[in-house]
Amino acid sequence: MTPVWPVDPTAPDPAVIARAAAILRAGGLVAFPTETVYGLGANALDAAAVRKIFAAKGRPSTNPLIAHVADADQVSAVAAAWPPAAARLAELYWPGPLTLVLPKRPELPDAVTAGGPTVAVRVPDHPVARALIRAAGVPLAAPSANRSTELSPTRAEHVLKGLNGRIDAVLDGGPCRGGIESTVVDVTGEPVRLLRPGLVTVPMLEAVVGPVAVGPPADAVARSPGQMTKHYSPRTPVTLVYPDDFLDDHIKAMSSGLRVGTLKFGRTGMPNDPVAYAAELYGRLHDLDEQRLDLILIELPPDTPEWAAVRDRLRRAASA
Ligand code: TXA
Ligand code: MG
Repeated sequence: MTPVWPVDPTAPDPAVIARAAAILRAGGLVAFPTETVYGLGANALDAAAVRKIFAAKGRPSTNPLIAHVADADQVSAVAAAWPPAAARLAELYWPGPLTLVLPKRPELPDAVTAGGPTVAVRVPDHPVARALIRAAGVPLAAPSANRSTELSPTRAEHVLKGLNGRIDAVLDGGPCRGGIESTVVDVTGEPVRLLRPGLVTVPMLEAVVGPVAVGPPADAVARSPGQMTKHYSPRTPVTLVYPDDFLDDHIKAMSSGLRVGTLKFGRTGMPNDPVAYAAELYGRLHDLDEQRLDLILIELPPDTPEWAAVRDRLRRAASA
């Protein structure tokens, strides 16, 4: 059994943070809340500790991890360069749900970067995450705290569903307010390139650094491997439906005897605002997954930049 330690998300008890930090310094694994989703942390400078993350999650060793640092000054502990585009983006969006891919420091263990020449870095905007990084005194490698390919956790109970007994502790700071994983951008070249959409949208990036390329470059096989595979999926099959088809498809599925769950816009359903929608999405999918349904029907949000990250996660949820 993995112990769960409740913490006040706005003012975490330093004694609890110190216990968690001691586990991390000793090479253990601690799950903690960030403003996006729960992360599974290990000392990024300890190769053996980082390898434990891959084992606990069942994550392919080819998929690199994000290094979490307390502030922009600590980036130099993991990265070898700080390009002007990185500085401008960090100035505006850190701490926050934006991950920057930078040239790695040679000393950083290969396990963090999956052997690649770059490292992904972010400063989380959550008092518990930042207190933990500070108390540990080292950058924390932390993927989302779920088994590989499954839904990311936005509550401590979601972490336990996949990782109970496989990790050393969970800091329970309540639900994550962001709800989907950070935006990932490659700032090692020109133009800046979006590798994973998130709550920092393309228009928000372009306001700072000009035109942004979207998706992996044509020549790249696996620049952001997390983007290539089945990912972020509930166990229940998911079908995405256009608003005009929703009622028909729902009736059809039910009349063929299927147990159907739905995520639909409306007064008793999902919010019309993309930020509020993202905050609820994984919690709703985790809940629906508990109901042993045959099918989850999800009404597609509009195809606009504000909805890009939510649509990306919905497509992945439906891609099983
Ligand atoms: O919001 C988040 O980003 C959460 C919280 C815990 O910070 N973390 C998270 O980590 O979602 P993870 O491991 O589930 O997703 C990291 C993504 C993957 O798609 C991975 O392939 C990509 O970042 N990534 C990591 N290092 C990279 C690198 N050096 N180059 C390109 N992509 C990288
Ligand atoms: Mg993940």
